Order: sequence, then structure tokens, then C-alpha cells
Amino acid sequence: MCSNPTPVREIGPDTLISRATALVSTYETASNPELIQHLPEAAADLGDLCPPPAPATGLYVLRGLPVDDAGLGATPPHWSDASPERTAVWDVAMLLLAATAGRPFGWEGQQDGRLVHDIVPSRGHEHGQTGASSTVTLAAHNEDAFHHGRAHLMLLGCLRNPDRVATSAAAVRHTDLDGADIETLSAPVLPILPDDAYDEARGSALEPPRVPTLWQGEDGLCLRFDPAYTPLEQAGPGYRAAYGRLGRELERVRTGVRLDPGDVLVIDNDAVVHGREPFRARYDGTDRWLKRVNVRLPDRARPPAEATEHGYGQRPIDPCQER
Ligand SMILES: [Fe+2]
Repeated sequence: MCSNPTPVREIGPDTLISRATALVSTYETASNPELIQHLPEAAADLGDLCPPPAPATGLYVLRGLPVDDAGLGATPPHWSDASPERTAVWDVAMLLLAATAGRPFGWEGQQDGRLVHDIVPSRGHEHGQTGASSTVTLAAHNEDAFHHGRAHLMLLGCLRNPDRVATSAAAVRHTDLDGADIETLSAPVLPILPDDAYDEARGSALEPPRVPTLWQGEDGLCLRFDPAYTPLEQAGPGYRAAYGRLGRELERVRTGVRLDPGDVLVIDNDAVVHGREPFRARYDGTDRWLKRVNVRLPDRARPPAEATEHGYGQRPIDPCQER
């Protein structure tokens, strides 16, 4: 693993937390549709708290938000057990950060359509390839790579991480691939199938679209990569070899980010893949607990061909979209 330091932005918590606290006193939880409607307005004067990461690095950590560990209560054993009241101020603070950058959104088929997801280790999922896993390495991937509507930015807020488990991150712009490999991987050869977090989409009978692994975005090379859900055996030997070289390069440039409570990791989901090192879940109420928010940047373009994809019938919930 490479030891490049992750850029850090210090954040003064006062304005953000007082704004979130005021919203919670009116709307109670981050799931209140009225709060969501007011979100763009509530974030409008907060300034540039959470800008997109610099293109060359593709990520940074926001540091300085307070976490009241005792007030959180126990880490829930499953996302569906999380109490929206306990973490309401943090949830709303995450949404405000997201709204200063772009539009927070969710998915119909994930965590009941919530905009703020709880990432906790869950019994029975230890060996899976989702955020609920623990004892296996969560392989590097773009978030929701199977879908053309995937996030441009992903925010991972840390409430608790007692064993300092590292989130891994690797920027495709740090890799050293030759032009022939980039050309090979820019052809739409393989599909990316929905991951295990999407039961309904996984049952889709729709023909999987073949998508490019790499493309050139306005800010540089971009990728759409999720090897755990990519049927590599369907590609020819040349493509498989180039895909393998990309995977090894991402491994070479990978960094580990050990989030502490109060940190928010901001990842450019077009430029950086993320994963997680293995760890032993405790299941005693003190486990690692992250909050995740997906963000859409309205002005960022992706390859036009993505617009024709069906997304396996999985629809985003995008309540801040202009109507
Ligand atoms: Fe992920």
C-alpha cells in the first residue's frame, strides 16, 4: 500500500452543527420529507464547506466535527436497527455538507430509500462484498458502479471506529497504464452487475449493458470498476490482461484512510475506487459505524452512452432535483 498522506480540510463545526441542530428541532430526523425540501435553502449560505476533491487526488478528509459517543448509544447490529433520532444532528449535518457540494440522493432499493445510510458490520454478512461485511477485504470498487446514475461524490462520515479500520482508496489518475491498455479498457466490453445491496435489481431479467471501464472526463481519466460484480470470464484474453494490469496498478497506488470519529471522507466516485481492510466485528454495540451519503454534481458529464442504460430497474430517489 502506498503511503501518500490523505489531504485534510479542517472544518469549523459551529455554523454547520448549529444549523443542523436548528433543523432537527423543527423536523426531528433527516428522513422528514419537509426537511429534504428545505435542504438546498438551508445550505445556501453555508459556503464552500465540502467542495469536490481536487482532480489530482480525488479525495480528502473533512476534520473537526464533534461526536458525542455516549449520546450515540450502541452501534446498531444492522442498518435497519439504527435510530434516526439518536444521530439526527449528524445525519442532517451530512446532508447539509452534501447540499453545499451538489444534491444528496438515495436509491429505492437500498436502506429503505434513505438519503443517509448506516454502514455497520452485520451478522451473516461477514464474508460479503458490501459495507455490512467485516472479515474479508472489501475489494476496491466505485460505489454503485452497475448504475449510470451512481454518485459523483460519496461522503463517508465516521461516528465510531475503535479499531481504526482503514478505508482503502485508489485514484486511477495515480496509476501508470500504457496507452494501449487505456484504449482497450475504454471499449464497452463487459457489464457490471448489481451488487448484493440491491436484491430487486439482482433479480432483474434485463439484458446487462456492456460498459467501458475507463473514460476521459473533463478533469482527467475516470473509471467504472467493480471486479467482484464483473463477469471477467466473458472477455477475451487481451481485455482480461489489461483489466488485471489496472487492478494491480490500483493496488499499487492504494492508500489506507483510518477515519476517526468526526471525520468525513469525501471521495470522487469517478476518479477513485474505495474498499476496506478486513476486521473482526465485535457485535457488542461498540462496532465501527459510518454514515454514507451519495451526491450528484449537476454539471458533471459522463459518457453519453450511459444515458441509454436501464439501471436494472433500480431508480434513484433524488428529492432535491429541480422540478
Ligand atoms: Fe462502497
